[in-house]
Amino acid sequence: MDKNISIDHKLIEYIFSHTSNLHPIQKELIKYNESLGHINRLQISILQANFLQFLIKSRKINKCLEVGTFTGYSTLTMALSLNKNGKIHTIDKDKEKNIIAKSFFKKANVSKKIRTEVSNGNDALTKLIKNKNKYDLILIDADKENYINYFNKSLKLLKKNGLLIVDNVLWKGEVTNDNAKDKLTQKIKNFNLYVKKSKIKKYILPIGDGFYICWK
Ligand SMILES: C[S@@+](CC[C@H](N)C(=O)[O-])C[C@H]1O[C@@H](n2cnc3c(N)ncnc32)[C@H](O)[C@@H]1O
Repeated sequence: MDKNISIDHKLIEYIFSHTSNLHPIQKELIKYNESLGHINRLQISILQANFLQFLIKSRKINKCLEVGTFTGYSTLTMALSLNKNGKIHTIDKDKEKNIIAKSFFKKANVSKKIRTEVSNGNDALTKLIKNKNKYDLILIDADKENYINYFNKSLKLLKKNGLLIVDNVLWKGEVTNDNAKDKLTQKIKNFNLYVKKSKIKKYILPIGDGFYICWK
């Protein structure tokens, strides 16, 4: 077996106390999401966000694409790490949440780096492929039913050394629960099997709800 410690709340607090501070608008957005109640769980975790920022800075990533804006935490996080010419195109079908997300982007002074699109993820990706767009980093964090479609379309949108990151692939640990028969767990398990069988290079990073990290 591999050697990994389990991370409890005390360790998370310790990690945060030894990590660079969040941007004030990231903190404000986290608080806002908490005020929404249980849908707060839709936001990526702070550890995942820190990791995305590290990737963007260390790989000099310039052009990002995201499916699943929600209230904008992952988008804001990425935008804060992009250099001044960097851009993110983020897609979500939820018009109301998009207005909220845009208000946080404005407050953090990153609106110029972000193009939000309110539409269906599949249609939007098809259009981007048709227009021959290419990205350094693609984050998929939307409806699990479409994960295989998003994966296949994203492969056509990735630059040569680009990274494709897919959230929720450990599904709160349910992927190893043989008794879990619900539709979404099955969708995630099918998706993971599909990625496993594909030729793309990949590994699963066990932070938040699990990031599948893929590259050509
Ligand atoms: C898990 S949340 C995204 C969280 C966000 N990345 C963050 O960290 O705050 C998933 C989002 O996907 C959006 N979504 C669901 N189905 C979609 C579809 N077919 N097309 C576009 N967006 C969709 C939902 O409206 C929701 O805002």
